[in-house]
Amino acid sequence: MLDQRSILGALEAVHDPELHQSIVSLNMVREVTIDHGHVTVDIALTVEGCPLHQQITADVTRELKKLSGVDQVQVTLSVMDEAERRETFSRAFQRAKAQRASGETATATAVKAPSASNSPSTRKAPVIGPLPGQGTAQGMMAESSATIVLGIASGKGGVGKSTVTANLAIALSRSGARVGVMDMDIYGFSQGRMFGAEGQAQMNEHEKIVPWHVHGISLVSMGMFVPEHQAIVWRGPMLGKMMQQFFTDVAWPELDYLLVDLPPGTGDVALDIAQKVRKAKLLLVTTPQEVAANVAHRAGDVASRAQQEIVGVIENMSYVLCPHGDRLEVFGSGGGQKLASDFNVPLLGQIPLESDVRQGSDRGLPITVSNPHSASSDAFFAIARTIREAVG
Ligand SMILES: Nc1ncnc2c1ncn2[C@@H]1O[C@H](COP(=O)(O)OP(=O)(O)OP(=O)(O)O)[C@@H](O)[C@H]1O
Ligand SMILES: [Mg+2]
Repeated sequence: MLDQRSILGALEAVHDPELHQSIVSLNMVREVTIDHGHVTVDIALTVEGCPLHQQITADVTRELKKLSGVDQVQVTLSVMDEAERRETFSRAFQRAKAQRASGETATATAVKAPSASNSPSTRKAPVIGPLPGQGTAQGMMAESSATIVLGIASGKGGVGKSTVTANLAIALSRSGARVGVMDMDIYGFSQGRMFGAEGQAQMNEHEKIVPWHVHGISLVSMGMFVPEHQAIVWRGPMLGKMMQQFFTDVAWPELDYLLVDLPPGTGDVALDIAQKVRKAKLLLVTTPQEVAANVAHRAGDVASRAQQEIVGVIENMSYVLCPHGDRLEVFGSGGGQKLASDFNVPLLGQIPLESDVRQGSDRGLPITVSNPHSASSDAFFAIARTIREAVG
């Protein structure tokens, strides 16, 4: 007999082409109406204008036509709102995890990697292929892992954590290291824009998120799931889960360094990193003002209490370099050195304030890529060398 149950049963066989799971278990089937042999189903797509909607429509129609009593199938498409989309992705992760744990083999086929671009005007073809060492993510959290996890922290916002993360990642990578960036600033994620990476999250055949791969860096950010201007409303426990998933559900290649761009302040995420990734070390970013350094002190205090090693301090926006070589200390001086002395760690470097730094970040071309011989780039490359000498 033709009823909702038999329709949903038939639709179990239809998989979302990107998430590789049944559209029924992903809650994408919104409404089913049966009028004699005429069946109408409404499917909620994860994104508007999903390029794969034709495939979903065709698959739904094909499966329903197999049922006896179905003469005509009509598929209407709607779009999930933000909360539903997050719920769906989360459900997909959980299910993929459960499948792996129970040894079920993934039925998925490989999907192509997200597109990455060097600048908004020059899109490049995807550059990531199957990478060596996939599935090492769980290992990266382990103390025995060879990957050095560096959290980039600050007490207050806007001091340049994300800028430092992006440029330091590139500087480390140019020195021969294999580098990944995890944008754990869930609310204020910006690494996608800084690296000029775009495209929705893609899953590989093992149901793992494929990182963006751009400027030589493997990168994962909330920007893969939601557009940058959209507000995220997750609270503590959900944030912790997300962090865990960024470690365990991502097809990270083998990495020498994983740089984690932390949200400003001393909140849940910094603590979570300290607790879950015991060997994670911290880099403190501050501006030269006394007040900024004092605030950064709190971030350092949390790290100390969590027995997390602080590798050193990076002072950003330290000075403006005048045409004749003079340094104009627009934000005062001494903050970085004071913070470093307080924690008895080195001041790793001072990054000048340069308009090219900001422009580069806005264009998706960090200054270490667009102008590797600038004063700021020199500082980033020097810091990368010092870090490699200090921590390996
Ligand atoms: N050395 C620099 N010279 C010029 N502009 C800079 C420099 N460092 C950062 N900026 C600019 O300052 C702004 C803030 O930097 P950034 O976003 O990296 O800070 P943040 O600490 O990550 O901020 P948030 O706390 O909001 O995440 C950006 O517009 C960035 O381009
Ligand atoms: Mg930031």
